[in-house]
This record gives sequence, structure tokens and C-alpha cells, in this order.
Amino acid sequence: METIHVNASKPYDVILKAGVLSEAGRLIRNELEQRRGTAGMLRCRRVCVVTDETVGALYGGPGQALHTSLRSAGFETTSFVFPGGEAHKTMETVAQLLDHLTENRFSRTDLLVALGGGITGDVTGFAAAIYLRGIDFVQIPTTLLAAVDSSVGGKTGVNLPAGKNLAGAFWQPNLVLFDPAVMTTLGRPLLLDGMAEILKAGFIADSNIIYDAMNVSSIFEHPETMLRLIGSAVNVKRRIVEADERESGERKLLNLGHTVGHAIEKCSNYEISHGAAVAIGMKIIAKAGQALEWIESGYGDDICDILGYFGYDLSCPYPAWALADAALNDKKMQGGRISLVVPDHPGHCMLKEVSAADLEDIIKKGL
Ligand SMILES: NC(=O)c1ccc[n+]([C@@H]2O[C@H](COP(=O)([O-])OP(=O)(O)OC[C@H]3O[C@@H](n4cnc5c(N)ncnc54)[C@H](O)[C@@H]3O)[C@@H](O)[C@H]2O)c1
Repeated sequence: METIHVNASKPYDVILKAGVLSEAGRLIRNELEQRRGTAGMLRCRRVCVVTDETVGALYGGPGQALHTSLRSAGFETTSFVFPGGEAHKTMETVAQLLDHLTENRFSRTDLLVALGGGITGDVTGFAAAIYLRGIDFVQIPTTLLAAVDSSVGGKTGVNLPAGKNLAGAFWQPNLVLFDPAVMTTLGRPLLLDGMAEILKAGFIADSNIIYDAMNVSSIFEHPETMLRLIGSAVNVKRRIVEADERESGERKLLNLGHTVGHAIEKCSNYEISHGAAVAIGMKIIAKAGQALEWIESGYGDDICDILGYFGYDLSCPYPAWALADAALNDKKMQGGRISLVVPDHPGHCMLKEVSAADLEDIIKKGL
């Protein structure tokens, strides 16, 4: 078991532990008691478990470990199950969830639990941020990507027709619980999605992550190494979030591969997954950065080799103009300028501000 304490504006623990799903009720109860005192904890009667259809069938049923442990700890549970997928990471799903909460008379002291991948976490966190002007929520990530990235740091939100994550809020969870056993039902593409965010953390701030991940063949068959990598990636995110919770500076580094990655997701109508798109996005910025001599000589090729070693398909089916067009609708553009995250040498990235007008040419150099 590893516990990582995130010292954000609302501090919380990330607990990585086999079997934690069946301890969730007790851990949530303890957390509420510590934060609110016994009387405050007792005012939390209802817990709504939010999940998508796939995860609901695997881990979210009324007789399964999570609901059982919540009820054993004295909570009444309800479930909100939605179809999942980027097409449902919308205001409409959030509105349906809010209706579910009012229908079930959730009060300000009750709690939401996000059981699922990054989409479930983003939707649940956003609903928690706005329901009755904000209620508590717990993240129980079930994808590798959600465990190492989206469940930590308090970014929540939904997509708008114009692009990814264009509506949202910073809203930190009370607790994050990850049971590595959930990885047994993730296929290789979903594991690779999460590994892209682990490698991203390595490129941004911790080269040991890259060495550790490449030190064994068939990484996904090494549960101990995987758990260590998850802890390391969460620690990179923790350090950055603690330094810059609202993304006014350093936190932008976590967007490595995301400017082009989000554009790829959008151009593919979300057929290409977030992790796969981020891997391609990292390759494009590494190659472009090398061509433009923004980065250490040869390091762009190294990044492409590392991504290739893990088996990512790094071909990009969209032309530079389409990617630039999609990226420029993104919220990260400010006053005709856009901030790119450039991996300039191992374990380090820098922010490079460029004119929006130059983005297409830059992407062209990375394709
Ligand atoms: N808030 C943040 O800081 C942040 C950071 C990174 C990514 N994100 C967001 O996260 C989303 C991507 O997350 P994701 O890849 O986890 O997507 P996801 O939530 O759609 O999960 C991917 C798929 O895996 C299935 N699944 C989940 N857990 C499973 C399990 N244990 N076994 C089998 N199937 C399982 C889901 O049903 C879904 O079909 C994107 O929308 C991205 O924008 C947010």
C-alpha cells in the first residue's frame, strides 16, 4: 500500500492499495470524520456512486464490493449510470446527474463517488462542484489513465461542441482510492492510454519513470513495477499541483502532448482515445521541437523511440491545417498566442509561447 498526500487548497490522500474497493466505506467514513468531526460525518447519509455502463457492470453493482462496503459503513447508496464515452461527457449528462441528486434528496452534506475512468471522474467532479454550490466527492479511478492523472489535481469538466473540456471547475476530491486489481479487466489499448500519461510524467519531471518502465519487457505483466510507476506519476502530478493548483504557470507543463492531442481527438470525433492522442501529440511536439532546435540535439528522436518501444501507433491521420484549426478553438489560446509544452531535455519541459498563426507550420514539422 502507498498513501500519497496531496497538499492542495483542500488536502487529501491518494491511497494505492489492493482490495481497497471493499474498504472504501470505512475509509470514506474515517476521512469525513477527520475533516468534519463526528457530528459532521454523521450528516452524510447518502452516497451516489456515479459510473458508466461498462464499469457499473464490472464493479458498481448493488451486491458488489463497493456498494456493500459503503452500506456496511452506514451509508445509503444510489447509483447514477450513464453510457460513457466522450459523446456523453456533456452538460446534458451533468444535468441528468443533478436531477438524480435532487430526486433522491441529496443535501449539501451528502457525497458523490466517481467509480470509473477519466470521463466519469470529470463528470462527477463537475457535478459535485456545482450541486448546491459544491459538495464533497471521492475519486475511485478504474483506468490506469484515471489513476495516474485525471483523479488527482481537481480539474473537472465536460466537453462542448467547440472542443474538449471547455466547461469545468477546479474542485478537489476528498480522497482518491485506487485498487490495482481493476487493471485486470483493462485491455491493452486502455493500458497503453494510461502508460502515455505515465511516460508524460517522466518526460516532464522524472526520467527515472522512463528508465523504470523500460527496464522490463512486457511492462503490463509486472504488477509491482506498475504500482511503483503509478506512485511515481502521481507524485509528479502532486508536486506540480501543489505548486500551481489553478494552472497559472507550472501546471501548464502537464499539458505536454495535449494541444495537438486534443485536436486529434476532436478531428477523429473522439474515435481516437485520449491516451493514444496524447502519445501522438508528444511525438509531434518532440519532432517539431527538434526541427526548430528548441530542444537538446537528438532528444526528439529519443522520445519517438521511447514511444515506439511501447508500441504506440504514432501515425497521425490528419493534416497540419486541420489540427491547427481544431487546436486554436482550444481554451489554452490567449490573445492570439498559444503556449506549447516542449520537452527540451530528459526529465524536463519548458513552455514556449508561439503565435497562433505559426501553429500550422510547427505541427507540419512534427508530422
Ligand atoms: N481532469 C483531468 O485532470 C484529466 C486528466 C487527463 C484526462 N482527463 C480526461 O479523462 C478522459 C479519458 O479517461 P479514460 O481513458 O479513463 O476514459 P474513460 O473514462 O472513457 O474510460 C475508458 C473506457 O474504459 C472503460 N473502463 C473503465 N475502467 C475499466 C476497467 N477497470 N475495466 C474495463 N473497462 C474499463 C470505460 O467504460 C470506458 O469505456 C478524457 O475525457 C480526458 O479529457 C482528465
